[in-house]
Amino acid sequence: MTKLWSFWSLSLVVFACFGRGCSSHCPVLECWFLQDKKQGGASGSQEKVLLDVGTEGHHLAAGRHRPPDSSIQRIYSVADPAATLCGRSLRPPIGSTNKPMCEISSFLPQPSSVKWAASLTDSALSPIYLQADWFAATLQGVGGELGMSTVLRAATGTSELDVVLSVTTTTVAVKARLGDPVLLNCQFWSDPASPQSGFAVEWRYQFRGSGQMILAYDGKSDRLSDAMENGAVMDIAEVHRKGNASLILQKARVSHSGTYICMVYLPHLLAQVTMELEIIEPPSLSIHPASLPLIVAGQSLTVHCEASGFAPHSLELSWEFKSPDGTTRSLGPGRLTGHRQAWDGTFSQDTRLELDTSTLDLGRGGEVTCVGQHPGGTRRAGVTLRIIGFSTPSIEDSMAMVGVALVLYGLIKFVSWTFTPSGSSEAAEANKKEN
Ligand SMILES: *[C@@H]1O[C@H](CO)[C@@H](O)[C@H](O)[C@H]1NC(C)=O
Repeated sequence: MTKLWSFWSLSLVVFACFGRGCSSHCPVLECWFLQDKKQGGASGSQEKVLLDVGTEGHHLAAGRHRPPDSSIQRIYSVADPAATLCGRSLRPPIGSTNKPMCEISSFLPQPSSVKWAASLTDSALSPIYLQADWFAATLQGVGGELGMSTVLRAATGTSELDVVLSVTTTTVAVKARLGDPVLLNCQFWSDPASPQSGFAVEWRYQFRGSGQMILAYDGKSDRLSDAMENGAVMDIAEVHRKGNASLILQKARVSHSGTYICMVYLPHLLAQVTMELEIIEPPSLSIHPASLPLIVAGQSLTVHCEASGFAPHSLELSWEFKSPDGTTRSLGPGRLTGHRQAWDGTFSQDTRLELDTSTLDLGRGGEVTCVGQHPGGTRRAGVTLRIIGFSTPSIEDSMAMVGVALVLYGLIKFVSWTFTPSGSSEAAEANKKEN
């Protein structure tokens, strides 16, 4: 009997698949239904439900097939004509443990209190349309590249949901270099069959608890707010043509790091997606002095490394020493200064290293490198250190010293010859012969 039942349910699913065209590849989403206190559920309680998504209406009436697992409380049939819920990252391969994240809850439609969306609700609305069960679902695709928010409507008491508004972003977490243009993706779809008309889009920015509006557009009266952030643009023609409400920041600045919210309003309804932007710029390193003087074993020398123009401020500065035989060892962080912040928000930090040849075993010298490890990449700057040791001079050093001695000798001779008074030219002559 159970075998017969599972065969029957399987064939039903297959049939349903043919019926609505499996080519649409819409998923069956497992979602947490969040109950709030008002609806009688225990506060904060949640239960598992399934959203069976299809693009061509409600082909599987809920209750017709049994939940595959007993933890599932309910199955909703979702009609999504624009296939907004059918993206690849919402339907991972069967058997994959990586599942998209989905939360759904019910809400009561309300007129918007936001100035930019107010015009949407000043006309007479369709109360019959709003008298229904309303749900809001928040989804995150596997891999974290898709963020989505959907408003769904069901005739009161039924499990057949219609997607009314979907807002999607494919740029959930964006990293950008300083000065680059940044695209914050936001795409929306609203049901053209809905009796409500008009939409508004608002972009907000949040950083450390404080928020501000960046840009707002009232699609009904075609009014665009003055951008609060200069260099932030949205292509209004794209908004109308394709529901593409993407925001472009023309030149990334450090102060652009933070959370961005794309909010799309329909009369009495709102869906929003959030994204994080982080401006990451690795440091530029420079070493002073740019070339080190020759030093004698036992002496010490201070090198100085400056890291500048980086963001965020997490940077690890250290020193390395590489001997001519290729072995590398760490010389530690040196004496670090605190971070300083420049007018453009980037940071700088310095470190000084005392190269004491009497305590550090630096041999005959090598390459001294300043290393800056940063989320934006590792940067290096190096100088060559040469140490002359008197105890065991090398052939090169001896030859160099002989060379120096010869040059000095020649110089002294030249000076004494030039400045010898003319009266004693014979003496000079004699002196020359003597040589
Ligand atoms: C959306 O519009 C922006 C311009 O505002 C454009 O750069 C981007 O390519 C568009 N995206 C899509 C998916 O059409």
